Amino acid sequence: MRLLRPLALGAFALPLTALAADPHSNAQPDQVKVTHLDLDLKIDFPQRQLDGRATLTLDWKNPAATTLVLDTSALKIASVEAVDEAGKASALGYALAAPDKELGSALTIQAPNHPHQVRIVYTTSPEASGLQWLNPAQTADKTQPFMFSQSESIYARSWVPLQDSPAIRFTYHAHVSAPKDVRVAMSALNDAKHPLDGDFSFDQPHPIPSYLLAIAAGDLTVRETGPRSAVYAEPSVVGKAAHEFEDTEQMIATAEKLYGPYRWGRYDLLVLPPSFPYGGMENPDMTFATPTVLVGDKSLVSLVSHELAHSWSGNLVTAASWRDIWLNEGVTTYVQGRITEALYGKPLADEEALLSARALQKSIGGMPPNAQKLAPEPRGMSADDTLSDVAYSKGSWFLRTLEQRYGRERFDAYLRGYFDHFAFQSITTEQMLDYLKPNLIDKYPGKMSWNEVKDWVYDTGVPKHAPLPDSPRFDRIDHERSGFLAGKLAADKLDAKGWNTQEWMYFLDRLPDPTPLAKIREIDAAWHLTGTPNAEIGMRWYSHAIAAGDKDVWPAAAEHMTRIGRIYLTLPVYGAFAKTPDGLAFAEATYAKAKDGYHPLTQAAIKTVFDKAEAKAKP
Ligand code: BES
Ligand code: ZN
Repeated sequence: MRLLRPLALGAFALPLTALAADPHSNAQPDQVKVTHLDLDLKIDFPQRQLDGRATLTLDWKNPAATTLVLDTSALKIASVEAVDEAGKASALGYALAAPDKELGSALTIQAPNHPHQVRIVYTTSPEASGLQWLNPAQTADKTQPFMFSQSESIYARSWVPLQDSPAIRFTYHAHVSAPKDVRVAMSALNDAKHPLDGDFSFDQPHPIPSYLLAIAAGDLTVRETGPRSAVYAEPSVVGKAAHEFEDTEQMIATAEKLYGPYRWGRYDLLVLPPSFPYGGMENPDMTFATPTVLVGDKSLVSLVSHELAHSWSGNLVTAASWRDIWLNEGVTTYVQGRITEALYGKPLADEEALLSARALQKSIGGMPPNAQKLAPEPRGMSADDTLSDVAYSKGSWFLRTLEQRYGRERFDAYLRGYFDHFAFQSITTEQMLDYLKPNLIDKYPGKMSWNEVKDWVYDTGVPKHAPLPDSPRFDRIDHERSGFLAGKLAADKLDAKGWNTQEWMYFLDRLPDPTPLAKIREIDAAWHLTGTPNAEIGMRWYSHAIAAGDKDVWPAAAEHMTRIGRIYLTLPVYGAFAKTPDGLAFAEATYAKAKDGYHPLTQAAIKTVFDKAEAKAKP
């Protein structure tokens, strides 16, 4: 799983025709749609809140509509008013519903006269689920406070009142005031030369879905990496980041050659503090990235290929609801592989495809049947549940299968045509299939049957004979691992000196669960994995060592967990500890110390692990 939240047991059958509205939003886009957002924000670090004024431009769809319903989460509403075309304001009645745990509070605004604009004055909560606030001491350089948003999937509503559904697109303009000496960045065109005068403005001229709304502020410096790319990071991090991401322009050029022009102007990268809960987030014009990929050898820069690929799959052609999210993540993971292949070679791209496919094969059988489908029934699933390995790994596997059947030339032309056809639209799985049929499947008959397509999209598991790439290097690692486990090859005789990050990941991913303690100790004596600066390796290593009962690694594991707030890298280590009473107690003590540095989403994910373990421990 990607987000690593427990999957809801979604055994609910529902006909596809009932999917009209987005079940994860209170918005009623058949009544009225927001087309533009004018945002005025003041960043208040001491209070850990945004003071906001959101002016929404409206396109009324139903002449009989009387209300505008917005999504909010823990917002304090000060006033709501209508603004006419001449700019004249008048108060409107409104009601804030009791909060739903998942969806927040619907804000229902009485607007029978269909105003041109509605303006909401509000403040955010210090506990806003879509924001993290850090003290200077919690940053790399310890000079300024730091704040950032993470809106995907349904957290934009915790910092802006809006129609928080990916089916609805709007342009935006923002004015942000901040303390002097702080730089503000947003998911819009950013001016690297802007003075740090506390007064920033941004324009996003392309219509985007709400989950791509993003903001960050802190002690940020900028380093150019190309004619239309730069990295933003704290001063002590920016040099390392610029080196790690020096191939960004080549990546953009590669993607353009395959799928048409990059339509967003600049592609900048913002490196966040290590508490950023994800690897990367494809915020338009300004990808947000974890510092855990800065390992010095560019081995984890597929993250940039991935987030950049979203500039086509996701940001340009957007999944209309969270149930369709494989259209974002599956297509992007496929495109990511193509960029990686073009820049770093087919062996590395194949290794990454195999890592993801093998992990899916291992996990998919244990998922509820509905969650195994590319396009699941959304009922009973939270918005984040849909963002699982199925969307990424099964989705990209489906596209690699199509490429293999139709040949690269035809499939590339098809995909490029798909991006052009649906540019700046939000679409459902069914719209994608309606385009796929005449433009690929029926156009070149005899390559793949329509039933096979439907199995990929609507069936559980992975179709038999789904093609996998060959990796002689991975085969060799399988061979060495077996020899080592059988006692035929000593750990220090493993040919691991030249293993790259992916090869270590593969070696560790396929160790048995648990691995005998003596074997763990032997690996560590030979290869010193405890204390590794590479968190992809560390996460796997500590999980195995803890499961094997190796208490010697506990302090280093605790250091890893405390330093890193990226859910995918820290949660499995908590999970390994939670399997024994001693381990659980140690993990809870570690959490108590680390908690203040974690993002609200990371806190929630870890709490779920503890709750489950405690429930199990009770008779
Ligand atoms: N859009 C996702 C991030 C995301 C996932 C946000 C789930 C909210 C919920 C992003 O593009 C992504 O997939 N990031 C990956 C990186 C990767 C696959 C290289 C991540 O964060 O691990
Ligand atoms: Zn993604």
